[in-house]
Amino acid sequence: MSLKGTITFLKSFATDKDVASITPSSQYCVRKLCSLIDFDETKTIVEYGGGTGVFTKYLLGRMRDDAQLYVFETNDNFYKKLSSINDPRLTVFHKSVEEMMDLLPNDTVGNVDHIISGIPFSFFNWDLKISILDKTISTLKHDGSFLAYQTTGHLKKPLMTVFQNYDTTFCWKNIPPYFIYEAVKKAG
Ligand SMILES: C[S@@+](CC[C@H](N)C(=O)[O-])C[C@H]1O[C@@H](n2cnc3c(N)ncnc32)[C@H](O)[C@@H]1O
Repeated sequence: MSLKGTITFLKSFATDKDVASITPSSQYCVRKLCSLIDFDETKTIVEYGGGTGVFTKYLLGRMRDDAQLYVFETNDNFYKKLSSINDPRLTVFHKSVEEMMDLLPNDTVGNVDHIISGIPFSFFNWDLKISILDKTISTLKHDGSFLAYQTTGHLKKPLMTVFQNYDTTFCWKNIPPYFIYEAVKKAG
């Protein structure tokens, strides 16, 4: 990870509790989570909590030319950094994911292939977790997946409540290590 990215993270962490991590995700964990995506078949990705853009840049590097990436980021510093990425496939919203239904294009809702999330669900109360996951499942297409990286196991119950399924793996090579969850929107 770059020193500049780590310094931006540390500064933002000191002033904004929702940043929830002292460093950007490691390239190892970025690659591990993104190995769950078939980029040849993917047209639309949404990212919750882009930070300094480690996932954002990796995704753009692998997405098709006709694919789209929508990123939500509440932190001012990170929003500025993400907005400086010059790529016509990228749209960055300086808003909470709670507002996604009002911001995503109408024809995107229900047609998203993958939603990648690093936002700190452990900070949210039960109702907010369920509300965000309800919006998430509505935004995904059938067989689309929600891919979340989190430092604790607390997403299991909310994912079972909304998606009725999840798989999990652990990524040690990160500070802090985290769980990667994959929940799929099943038909019916
Ligand atoms: C753990 S960091 C992950 C950052 C980056 N994706 C990475 O992997 O290095 C969580 C990010 O989510 C953002 N965030 C927290 N709550 C959010 C919300 N409700 N909506 C959008 N972004 C949020 C934070 O500002 C922070 O950038």
